[in-house]
Amino acid sequence: MERLILPDIKDLHKLDVYEAHGGYSALRKALGMKPEEVTDEVKKSNLRGRGGACFPTGLKWTFMPKQTNKPKYLCVNGDESEPGTFKDRQIFEFNPHLLIEGTIIACYAMGITTAYLYIRGEYGKWIRMMQKAVDDAYAKGYIGKNILGTEFSTELVIHKGAGAYICGEESALMNSIEGERGYPRVKPPFPAQYGLWGCPTTINNVETISNVPIIINRGWEWYSKIGAPKHPGPILVGVSGHVNKPGVYEMPTGVPLLEIIYKYAGGVPGNKAIKAVIPGGSSTPILRGDQLEGVCMDADSMKAAGSAVGTAGLIVMDEDTDLIQVIARISKFYHHESCGQCTPCREGTGWLHKILDRFVAGEGTKEDIDLLMEIANNIEGNTICALGDAAAWPVQSMIRRFRDEFERRVARRTAPVVEAVSA
Ligand SMILES: Cc1cc2nc3c(=O)[nH]c(=O)nc-3n(C[C@H](O)[C@H](O)[C@H](O)COP(=O)(O)O)c2cc1C
Repeated sequence: MERLILPDIKDLHKLDVYEAHGGYSALRKALGMKPEEVTDEVKKSNLRGRGGACFPTGLKWTFMPKQTNKPKYLCVNGDESEPGTFKDRQIFEFNPHLLIEGTIIACYAMGITTAYLYIRGEYGKWIRMMQKAVDDAYAKGYIGKNILGTEFSTELVIHKGAGAYICGEESALMNSIEGERGYPRVKPPFPAQYGLWGCPTTINNVETISNVPIIINRGWEWYSKIGAPKHPGPILVGVSGHVNKPGVYEMPTGVPLLEIIYKYAGGVPGNKAIKAVIPGGSSTPILRGDQLEGVCMDADSMKAAGSAVGTAGLIVMDEDTDLIQVIARISKFYHHESCGQCTPCREGTGWLHKILDRFVAGEGTKEDIDLLMEIANNIEGNTICALGDAAAWPVQSMIRRFRDEFERRVARRTAPVVEAVSA
């Protein structure tokens, strides 16, 4: 497939190079359409969000009120803090103007006059690169007052995060932009009714928005034929772990995971067998290596396999991987990143972490296996935001699919292979 989001064009991050390759022609085209026609085009394309939940983007845009005397906002989510996920930063580095163009088109479609681009604080280099691209786009009249001589004006502000995974959750992100603590908000009201500063707001992922100029340029019919029919388009898959060529690969949705691992990412070092994969970032349920045949990178296929596309951050683990170590480390992350608002998450993530560290130290018991499951079940669905689910799913799936690993650990009651994670 022709690469659409990350094409192989030298210096594409520079505005003149982007323009020379047709850049900002989608914006010109969109500004010649009615805003609702732009939304309709995105809706018909079947684009689904690339931020984790695969929510239909065009539908989300229609939730924004048309008649309101309040300002409307767009938040472009580039917090990208989930372990295993590192694809948005490729857009910041290699195709920032595609993201800017998509942002301005989205603003036009929804009648938005200010967009915030929220970027993970640790991404210093990429924040600087994005700021340069935004400054250049302002200077050329693609952002700001009377864009390209039309009546339409909108501002684009980059907001730097401060190293908190929770701020990627859409309502925590809005609080963070407002200068408040990054606590998720209770929903409803939903952001389209009561978002930033109580005004209508849409939140979309960086990669989602980067698909918009492609849809406008080529048309929804063309776009919707790429990849899996119900979840179409190009997708950036970040492959890490035990592969010969880790990296971010652009491909159509619906590519089999085994093809991603063996064709795109060069297979497993030493030709070892695959023990497990986490297909879409650390929150998505783990799959067994012997369960991967026919499983593809699209929402339906992944759901049928008992996992999720998430952010398409595929983590591959070979036959020698100590999965107890893996799940203990993941749980440590969620414990550390829990904002502490909801009791099941605040307390439960800590308990999971503590018990899993016991397993790492060779001190886990048979009862602990069931206790882990019970705690995870009590977190899932019982919190304001999905961080609780994100902490529960890896533990639940690890026990369901690799209970034997836990039981072997209990049976051996061995000394730790390596030190406890939190030691
Ligand atoms: C704890 C947590 C962290 C999240 N982090 C991100 C993130 O870094 N980037 C992102 O786009 N979405 C993240 N999300 C999902 C957002 O809340 C939201 O669904 C997404 O930005 C919507 O974009 P989309 O519809 O384009 O996928 C996170 C959700 C949770 C619960």
